[in-house]
Amino acid sequence: MTTTSARPAGVPAIEQLPQPPLRTSTDIQGNILAAFNKDFMDFRYLHFPDAARGRGWLSAILNTVSTTSETEDFNEQFSLARRAFGRDPNLVTVRCGVSLTFDGLMAVANKPDQVRKDLEDNKMQSFLAGAAARAADLGDTDESDPKQWLFGAGAGNQVVHAVLIVAADTDEMLQEKLKNLDAVENANQIVRVHVDEGRTLTGPLKGHEHFGYKDGISQPGVKDFHPESPDQPGVRDMHAGTELIEPGEFVFGQKSENGDRPAPQWMANGSFQVVRRLRQDVAGWNAAVIDGATKFTGTMDPTRLGACLVGRFKDGTPLAPPNGSVTGVGSDRNDFDYSNDPAGEHTPWVAHIRRTHPRVFAGNGDGHPKSHRLMRRGIPYGVQFPGGANDDGVDRGLMFVCYGTSLEEQFEVVQRFWANSDTFPPGKPNGSTPAPNGFDKVVGLAGKAEIGLADGTHGTVDMKRFVHTTGALYAFTPSITTLRLLAGGQDLPNKPVGS
Ligand code: HEM
Repeated sequence: MTTTSARPAGVPAIEQLPQPPLRTSTDIQGNILAAFNKDFMDFRYLHFPDAARGRGWLSAILNTVSTTSETEDFNEQFSLARRAFGRDPNLVTVRCGVSLTFDGLMAVANKPDQVRKDLEDNKMQSFLAGAAARAADLGDTDESDPKQWLFGAGAGNQVVHAVLIVAADTDEMLQEKLKNLDAVENANQIVRVHVDEGRTLTGPLKGHEHFGYKDGISQPGVKDFHPESPDQPGVRDMHAGTELIEPGEFVFGQKSENGDRPAPQWMANGSFQVVRRLRQDVAGWNAAVIDGATKFTGTMDPTRLGACLVGRFKDGTPLAPPNGSVTGVGSDRNDFDYSNDPAGEHTPWVAHIRRTHPRVFAGNGDGHPKSHRLMRRGIPYGVQFPGGANDDGVDRGLMFVCYGTSLEEQFEVVQRFWANSDTFPPGKPNGSTPAPNGFDKVVGLAGKAEIGLADGTHGTVDMKRFVHTTGALYAFTPSITTLRLLAGGQDLPNKPVGS
């Protein structure tokens, strides 16, 4: 009997195509390089009563923790099927990820003093201090003060040791998995400090955050994980405008952009995780945008002002003209770098996406433009705002999650020196210093923001904060190897790795 192949002779099967080395990692946890991308995502913040029970819990969940390889295999299959059928395929699964705070590492490590010393020797000060201790520098004051946080600033058995993310394509699958995890928690007398239920919004708001803007569009490309475009070296294949960044920016033990991410071996294949529970006042934002638009000279309305504050319209269309042109709205959603808009006349300097990723202007102050990128993995929590002018009092917002190998150079630079700085950018490429133009109006401090557009429309918005921090943690997402060692109460190897 002869068999015929649907594939022409000489064309390799997908599974035979060369894979970038990190793509097949079974040691790096999922969600760092390969996103979980699930509609139902619970966050459990847990406290271990003692080392034995912490290790017992870790041992019991070890086999549930997802790897990069399996996470990306699923994502790839999903995308291929979507492309083939023109709709979301009926492929469903559950993913888990676990991270440990500094206190959590101290609780379960066999030699906590050595672990502390490893972190100190590598100057990982923000991780050692924890998110609550960094609050004043990051603008977590007043309504965002740690005293009011739901997690991340507690004492005694409210100190968070582990963050468990359980992510599923359906609520039924999530609940089923949670039942198993409940049993493991109970068996080890783990204290659940708080739980957040991340849920993607539904209907026309699917894929959008609560203010109504499409989220999850622009992410860094990662060398050795994402394939490179054959036409544009240094750019992710099929993702115009997405630069490939050295993998050591997101995973310890790999080459980084600036040679500044050395780590002890037990951190190799791991990453720092930032978790921030950001409450959004949607009615307040809507009213401020409507009111703010009336204060402009020229052509301004709430839709355009909202886009100026975010940098994209609600459907994700960027204000930025594509590379090489100074007119029109960018047709490609991410193929722009602001080099044709130094004065912020298309995408104002206060716009959230420009503040948090200034592209060609990034690193003007320190000369390291690619050292401040964030791998964002956020998801909304809370029910959708029903509309109208009045606050309905419901707690809703964004579970902001990001990964990277330097809390100081990545999340903290972006939040502290870019979003919360009135004088950002620190300098233009020609050396001139721009006038203060205000704070990031999505996640920055309250205050004024100057906007002057190419068509002559100009004005100042003076807005309070509509995003408040209600919980935050810095954690470390270890490799599967290190999780195993921690669970077994074994010593952690600490020979230096990385660049
Ligand atoms: C409730 C809070 C937040 C909201 C509503 C929000 C909303 C958005 C939206 C709508 C986008 C554009 C879509 C995209 O490119 O993915 C975006 C992009 C982004 N946000 Fe946020 N965000 C929030 C918090 C934060 C925080 C706390 C940070 C970091 C300090 C941050 C950093 C970024 C970055 C780096 C981008 C990508 C910019 C680019 O590459 O063009 N966001 N955000």
